[in-house]
Amino acid sequence: MSDKQIRIFDTTLRDGEQAPGCSMTLQEKLRVAKALAELNVDIIEAGFPAASPGDFESVKTIAERNFGPVICGLARCNAEDIQKVYDAVKSAERHRIHVFVATSAIHREHKLKMAKEEIIKSAVGAIQMARELVDDVEFSPEDASRTELSYLAEVVSAAIEAGATTVNIPDTVGYTVPAEFDRLFRYLKEHVARIDEITLSVHCHDDLGMAVANSLAAVSAGARQIECTINGIGERAGNCSLEEAVMAIKTRAEFFDLETGIDSTRLYPTSRLVSNITGMQLPRNKAIVGENAFAHEAGIHQHGMLQHASTYEIMRPEDIGLSNSNLVLGKHSGRHAFRDRLVELGFELDEFETNRAFKEFKILADKKKDIYDGDLESIVMNAGGASSGPWTLKSLEVQTHTDEPATAAVTLLDEDGKEVAESAHGDGPVAAAFQALEHATGVRLILRNFELHSASIGEDAQGEVTVSVEYEGRDYRGHGASVDIVEAGCRACLEVTNRILRRAHRGAADPGNGDSTRATI
Ligand code: KIV
Ligand code: ZN
Repeated sequence: MSDKQIRIFDTTLRDGEQAPGCSMTLQEKLRVAKALAELNVDIIEAGFPAASPGDFESVKTIAERNFGPVICGLARCNAEDIQKVYDAVKSAERHRIHVFVATSAIHREHKLKMAKEEIIKSAVGAIQMARELVDDVEFSPEDASRTELSYLAEVVSAAIEAGATTVNIPDTVGYTVPAEFDRLFRYLKEHVARIDEITLSVHCHDDLGMAVANSLAAVSAGARQIECTINGIGERAGNCSLEEAVMAIKTRAEFFDLETGIDSTRLYPTSRLVSNITGMQLPRNKAIVGENAFAHEAGIHQHGMLQHASTYEIMRPEDIGLSNSNLVLGKHSGRHAFRDRLVELGFELDEFETNRAFKEFKILADKKKDIYDGDLESIVMNAGGASSGPWTLKSLEVQTHTDEPATAAVTLLDEDGKEVAESAHGDGPVAAAFQALEHATGVRLILRNFELHSASIGEDAQGEVTVSVEYEGRDYRGHGASVDIVEAGCRACLEVTNRILRRAHRGAADPGNGDSTRATI
């Protein structure tokens, strides 16, 4: 690998998934892992296998699929965690064990209650054990940016001596600033023997909005791996955003003189995939992948753009995979055009899924004249859950009147095609419809959050609803879409209900599916 090459270590499925409201089902994680492989990331941190049986299963399944990138799992510095990571990742052709322990005075005194020497001993023991299992071992001194520099250098030296092949420097609480982080990396380069024999890595959080800037400062000072997530999702304010870091390096190549192996044309579809799956909608003005990132409203800008795009545009929309001709299909579009467009958007469906999605596309095209990319994504993303039964929504009727409770009547079909009709009143149409669903299915969900997002543009745009609900002490998230937003809510609710019923039917855990009982770091 050339000295100019920056490895992209994606932790969307570990640090990203750890963020509240971002947990993913196994199927969703597989979709994300596949998209990350198509994006050509170097390493996928697929999870923290010791956190829960669901996490273990999902890391193992991702590893078994062998998508291409190195598959990595996180472990604390203990034998059980390390063995679990190994068991989960070993079937991937290329795999890595990532061990971490906190090193800052605050963590030593208040969390670990361990002396400096004990921490070094624990790190060295863990790295040695991991090296007995695999050749590729990463070590992270958690809260490195708040660790005394000389002690940090001692820890990093010990980690290299013990056999770590990558040493990652986390700004765990998003506290550092670029100039300070630059000094930290230069200090390590100068004071740690053999540091040039390993890959130095950076891992930043965005608490002060500087995760990307700090990561770029680190690579300018010699780091050669950036740990980041799609859309910057992650604990609290999130992690370094992959798309921002990658596009900064690409767009300012003459400044950084560095490169990544990322196929930037996959950035936009991957970003959409992750925001659809997690229900974390992006601010319109989010850099690179926000809806407004390439929109030019002001007249003076539009004039300049018409003369020459480079007047106000430093990147081209197509560089990130944003097509100019967003308007795609209509009622008369055929199956081929439909499937081609899905492939362009990054979806590769099997025959069965394509047929199902195409059927839904035709139904939607009857209700809505123009079908945009967002509508197609919505069809694919919302296809699986509700249509896998046992319940299907046949019809919904809602009545609202100012100053009076709303009324909703739903008709559902059960697995055998038998109709069940129920109605209910509620404070609003959504409450009434949810009550009616509850009467029909017998599953009582406590609604915690209802988020509405427009899948595309225009008055007849589909509404995408993400509901967060609680059922028997567990948190679940469901998605639904329709041109009618109450119906979209019902579909989201039904998707969760169906998952709960299928899970109860199987009598087994549904890995990673809203299970809120996990070990925390
Ligand atoms: O933020 C952090 O310190 C981490 C480590 C486990 C790498 O996520
Ligand atoms: Zn982190």
